[in-house]
Amino acid sequence: MKFISISEAMKKGSGKVAVRGWVYRERGSNKFKFIVLRDSSDIIQCVFKREKFEEQWEDIDKLSIESSVMLEGTIKKDSRAPTGYEIDVDKLKIVSFAEPFPINKDLNEKLLGDRRHLWLRSRKMTAILKIRDTVLQAIREHWRKKGFYEYHSPSFIGMQCEGGSTLFKVDYFGRPLYLAQTWQLHAEPGIFALEKIFTIQPSFRAERSKTSRHLTEYWHAEMEVAWEDFKYLQDDGEQLVKFVVKRVLEKNKKELDILKRDIKKLEPTVSKKFPRLTYDEVLQILKQKKGLVIPWGKDLRTIEEDKLSELYDTPVIVTHYPKEVKAFYMKEDEKNPKVVLGYDMIAPEGYGELIGGSQREESIKKLEENLRKQGEDPKKYEFYFDTRRYGSVPHGGYGLGVERLISWICGLSTIKDAIAFPRTMTRWYP
Ligand code: 4AD
Ligand code: MG
Repeated sequence: MKFISISEAMKKGSGKVAVRGWVYRERGSNKFKFIVLRDSSDIIQCVFKREKFEEQWEDIDKLSIESSVMLEGTIKKDSRAPTGYEIDVDKLKIVSFAEPFPINKDLNEKLLGDRRHLWLRSRKMTAILKIRDTVLQAIREHWRKKGFYEYHSPSFIGMQCEGGSTLFKVDYFGRPLYLAQTWQLHAEPGIFALEKIFTIQPSFRAERSKTSRHLTEYWHAEMEVAWEDFKYLQDDGEQLVKFVVKRVLEKNKKELDILKRDIKKLEPTVSKKFPRLTYDEVLQILKQKKGLVIPWGKDLRTIEEDKLSELYDTPVIVTHYPKEVKAFYMKEDEKNPKVVLGYDMIAPEGYGELIGGSQREESIKKLEENLRKQGEDPKKYEFYFDTRRYGSVPHGGYGLGVERLISWICGLSTIKDAIAFPRTMTRWYP
């Protein structure tokens, strides 16, 4: 017989089926053995009656969690079974007996992390990885629909873009280089060829913080576009997040259910417009509604972002931050040179910054000035200044932290679960 997935078998609902997978749970008696079988699609209860398996009974009795099997039998509805169906098994092939599986409910976070390669098989991780797949596909679909080209930048680079304190230094044949914090410095040259470009690739940050929202290696969805203005960058960021959430709600109801995610927390993002506030307005709102007094010029920290997110049920876009707290490449606002045409998109429910983006400064003089203020040698950026020398045009872009978005969509307690093998200051194995 041809093997089908467990979910296909349940869709069929009756008659003969052949499925294969791993033992998720097992219990037995003298006369019966029940196993719950797991494959990538779902789980299903399977029953073995001893009278049919006299010769194989010793082996069946030994079947333990994560042993792999192929089986054939008759499927029928059974309201007592965990997913509402049961297979009465006629034929079994044991592919591999598993050793005692070293994962159980009592493991602490450290041990689960050490056994991450095995923990991936959990229903929780399987559900998250499926949602991750939807998210990545939706991001691509969003930009492709708009005529953006997928374009890539190097990961070994010679300079900072997002501040020197989170740079990873690598020994590049005896020369110091860094792992890229963003594609941006090598994306801006690309718009002169392709005009509208995007990427989804890893970025690296030597984050010393052990928070629930920082990875040292994360997947970064970034776009860069010629000719467009600051409003376009905000509109596109909002459309992107709306589209991704819409797709997950369409495709992954079952996974969100496994994760016990309340989808009412996601729906407003699809249907409602995101509030857009200036930094100044945020200071006022935080003072009035949360009693938080932030002196003008200070960056918004985690606490302030979290307090702000409590006031809304969609992401919030915050614009016009003080120049001093933002990256060197952000364009000064002509109307008020103390602030920049940059924005952060803050997730609901305290999930922090999803997107950081800006209009790009075109003046080489200002770029040099900003770099010097940060203690950087502008000479290293000569190639980048060339983008302003040969037919400079208004342009901008933004970056979205893929795992931040997944964390929020799935309602995770740590960003580490948004990726198969997380990298943080204290976690690099397996
Ligand atoms: O705000 P950031 O630093 O912006 C940039 O890198 C720009 N060059 C992007 C651009 O304009 N092309 O980072 C963008 C996003 C953040 O909003 C956040 O979602 C995510 O990247 N991010 C992280 N995600 C996980 N772990 C970390 N350590 C992160 N640091 C930033
Ligand atoms: Mg940022």
